[in-house]
Amino acid sequence: MPLIPRWSWYLLLLTAAIWLVSRQTSPHPSVGSEILWPTQIDPLKYTYSYQGNELVNTTALFDQTPLDPIIKSLLKKAFAHNSYEAKVIPYYKKRKGAFASEDVTMITWLTSDRLGRLVRLAEKRRAPISVAYYIPPRHKLATRDLLLLDKLFDTHPSLSQNVDIHLVTSSELLQPNTWRTVAHTFAGTEWVLLWDADFEACTDPQKGLEEFRANVRDKKWLKNLDQGRAALVIPSYEWVDPAFARKRDLCPTSKKELSTLFHNLTLDAFETHNPVLSHATEYNRAVDAASTDYYEVTEFEFGYEVYAIFRRDADVWYDQRLVGYGYDRGAFTAQLYLSGIDLYVLPGQYAVHEEHPSYTERRRDSSGMTISWLTFQLDMCHHIFQRLAAKGELHGPTGERAIQHCSELGIPELQSDLDRCLMDSRNAGARRQ
Ligand SMILES: *[C@@H]1O[C@H](CO)[C@@H](O)[C@H](O)[C@H]1NC(C)=O
Ligand SMILES: *[C@@H]1O[C@H](CO)[C@@H](O)[C@H](O)[C@H]1NC(C)=O
Repeated sequence: MPLIPRWSWYLLLLTAAIWLVSRQTSPHPSVGSEILWPTQIDPLKYTYSYQGNELVNTTALFDQTPLDPIIKSLLKKAFAHNSYEAKVIPYYKKRKGAFASEDVTMITWLTSDRLGRLVRLAEKRRAPISVAYYIPPRHKLATRDLLLLDKLFDTHPSLSQNVDIHLVTSSELLQPNTWRTVAHTFAGTEWVLLWDADFEACTDPQKGLEEFRANVRDKKWLKNLDQGRAALVIPSYEWVDPAFARKRDLCPTSKKELSTLFHNLTLDAFETHNPVLSHATEYNRAVDAASTDYYEVTEFEFGYEVYAIFRRDADVWYDQRLVGYGYDRGAFTAQLYLSGIDLYVLPGQYAVHEEHPSYTERRRDSSGMTISWLTFQLDMCHHIFQRLAAKGELHGPTGERAIQHCSELGIPELQSDLDRCLMDSRNAGARRQ
């Protein structure tokens, strides 16, 4: 009687084979993903002839790209639930570069007219970027956009090394928060930086994070950050006169020049015409503070928007009901801050907006939004009350912000929700003791 049963060798072989396969197809060796994604997707497999042109049938591309059926169900649940039926192919293009899990992945979304910006970001940054790339439903336009993407990936190693493209489509282009959710979900490292492609990262956000780690005086801030209970804010600026900006580099050459330009009114906070959006960052303080004089955001108002670095698994999302222009990032920031996540400003970091005519004209036109800002605020407040109450935290320090800012909305019904949730919170707190 042999000591080791014969079948165990087959088991060993099978395990080794599975390990080999998963190792070869894993998009992020550093993270050790075991989910099998298609290795190489060729859109030309899905073409048909139309008036002498070869067009990609995007319906077929999205429907027939071989994805694990469970992944397919999850994607449907996560993104196709609204009336716009967003479709997603994760890792349509997979970056070749391997990065450490502590690296910051920039997350953003864009259309083909911003691919030039993506090239610039990738060349400058040489760090992971996770992009939701939107293609329009019309086959002719989609084909053009897919071929352009292929061409750029073939000719720019900075893209193929650093950038993951997640292909998305829908009848509605303006779903920024859905696209951000896609880019965030499939970010391959433990840290993310929410970004818009129209911004130039003048400084290195990765360094910003590392410097914060090394220099922050209050170690509790570092602990908050590591536990997903804080985010680091990168101040964002815009040129007052875009014509002046076109004649020079988009970025100030140094923090010192940034300060001069800010004080002589050449450069200002991004979207300064609507102070609610930026005022809480305290730009006057940011421009002159030493790069390690980190400070906390304390003057939050509804509408405030940030670009921030935080842990990928922090408990915050981009509300997908905010379709159309405006408020999408405000919704994200409000949810972040009111649910108790601290915001610390990195004064040594800065980003500058590149003016883009077609976007600026329609900025903040909320008429096409599927949910009004007030309805959203009420719903978010109610949701945060309930969540904090269930954890027994609403009546403690974590709940203070939500209670203060939500009460300021002055809606009696929300106030009675709050009273009930406060009672629940005390009960939940008592049960825990
Ligand atoms: C595109 O593909 C879908 C799904 O395979 C198919 O039903 C449709 O007829 C195709 N359209 C064209 C124009 O080939
Ligand atoms: C502001 O400062 C910059 C840099 O020194 C200079 O180029 C620019 O002309 C100044 N603008 C004004 C309005 O003083």
